[in-house]
Amino acid sequence: MLKNLWYAACLAAALGDRPKAVRILGHDLVLFRDASGTPACLADTCVHRGAPLSRGRCVDGRVQCPYHGWVYATDGRCVEIPSLEPQARLPERARVDAYPCRVRFGLVWVFLGDLAPEERPAIAEFLPEFTATDPPWRCIHGTFAYAANWERVFENHIDSAHTHFIHPDFGNPDDPRVPRAKVQAEGLGAWAEHSYQPRPKRGALGALVDEHRPPVRTRLAFDLGGLCVRLAIRMTDTLRQVVFQAFTPIDEHHTVAHYIQARNFLLEAEHDEPMRGDLEKIFTEDREILEALRPVAVPHALNAELSVQTDALPVAFRHQVRRWREAHGAIRSPDPAVEITAIPSPARRAPGHWVVPEARPQAGPRE
Ligand code: FES
Ligand SMILES: [Fe+2]
Repeated sequence: MLKNLWYAACLAAALGDRPKAVRILGHDLVLFRDASGTPACLADTCVHRGAPLSRGRCVDGRVQCPYHGWVYATDGRCVEIPSLEPQARLPERARVDAYPCRVRFGLVWVFLGDLAPEERPAIAEFLPEFTATDPPWRCIHGTFAYAANWERVFENHIDSAHTHFIHPDFGNPDDPRVPRAKVQAEGLGAWAEHSYQPRPKRGALGALVDEHRPPVRTRLAFDLGGLCVRLAIRMTDTLRQVVFQAFTPIDEHHTVAHYIQARNFLLEAEHDEPMRGDLEKIFTEDREILEALRPVAVPHALNAELSVQTDALPVAFRHQVRRWREAHGAIRSPDPAVEITAIPSPARRAPGHWVVPEARPQAGPRE
């Protein structure tokens, strides 16, 4: 799994006045709000006796461990050990890793790595519709969980050729060809444009679009900055829909997609749940096949699976991942039965001593 990237952690609205546990890259993290309400993220395991800080409470914008009450500030330093005399000096190593946070598209993102601010890749500018007001767009958020490896899940969402076989509602198994599309590299990602003749739509959307409408045009883009995918669908000259997804590896075998659908039609709230239902039906169809792929992880060697011309966008993704892994290394989950490790945070760039060792590197490519 890749470090030194931004990862979507949770819906900002879901982070209240209690600490919240999330697991990303096989590591347990705690999210909470500082005194001004800004999200903060720390490694979740107390360096005293290993209790999860996320089971504790927030006190004046800090988080207090539930076991012996140590209090950690947003920079990860322990600022209070209640069992000691008030004037006692706190140990230098009484600290946990603290990770940069930001809020974007209604999500809390955490930067899991030790790069300086100017070295960090930006979260892709993939959803300008989120703040658009003229004309307005309607956005719905959701999460969708897969018991599948993050690279497999990510690739599926930039793979046009599976549509005709996995998604009966809008694929066409009688004409499963994917027209040639030039893949354009951009930043830490790439994009391609397609068009296809859609099946008739059902429900409220079906009433809006003509049965004999022109081909649907799509633009599909991915970026490692935020590990996200943008699918922009132009259904007619006026009807547009964007499906944005940020993929977060829980560990090597589990992935959560944070999705946002933006649409410029059917703006009333009553259409949200039917839209969500349609999207999640598609994701459920994807999930059934994704959880059956072998090997579970995408092989590191590019020739270990056979790609054809219409796999150009997923192959561009494999190249981007490979470049990032070679430049920054990759990490694996600790075995919680015997160890904890920490994804290195920016504070580890300075000399200092830490109780918890750094995450171990993922095994290299088998080539
Ligand atoms: S385990 Fe956290 S204070 Fe003791
Ligand atoms: Fe799909």
